[in-house]
Amino acid sequence: MLLASLFTVHVLSALIWVGGMFFAHMALRPTVATVLQPPERLTLLVGVFARFFVWVKISIVLLFLTGFWIIHIYGNFAKAGWHIHSMLLIAVIMTIIFGVIYAGPYKALRYAVSLQQWPAAGAAMATIRRLVGINLVLGLITVVIGTSGRFLV
Ligand code: HEM
Repeated sequence: MLLASLFTVHVLSALIWVGGMFFAHMALRPTVATVLQPPERLTLLVGVFARFFVWVKISIVLLFLTGFWIIHIYGNFAKAGWHIHSMLLIAVIMTIIFGVIYAGPYKALRYAVSLQQWPAAGAAMATIRRLVGINLVLGLITVVIGTSGRFLV
């Protein structure tokens, strides 16, 4: 029952983070880029990120908490398969990239939008797009490793 709950929370957190990035990167951003002018587009995206990033932070905490808890129940880390080690490594890289986005271009985007400096805001957004693209690919790989890894050991 505990393991079932941990897996459920683990997968829901992965779903919210990776699925949110997929929607933002593959559907929302390309659409607003063709429909809205920079002032409306960049203001909208700041609002979207402000809400989404709260959920990303919660998801990161829950992924590590439930992940380590599952490892603890399995025995210990040395016994964990390669897929769990890979998942942890990629999750750490993804978390660092999220931290870089949050402290760097996202902060710059908010600042530039508040001052209505649209070229600077556009440049910050371009950096966020590239970094989210990298994290999306890493997130999808992690989901594949997490779900299929145990059958490949
Ligand atoms: C972006 C981050 C992560 C994603 C997208 C992710 C995704 C997944 C998925 C989809 C599963 C399969 C669940 C199932 O089949 O029911 C899984 C299992 C698991 N994850 Fe993660 N995970 C992430 C981070 C972590 C972290 C940080 C840890 C460790 C601290 C971890 C430890 C585990 C463990 C131990 C399992 C069970 C594997 C098994 O039973 O073979 N995960 N994860």
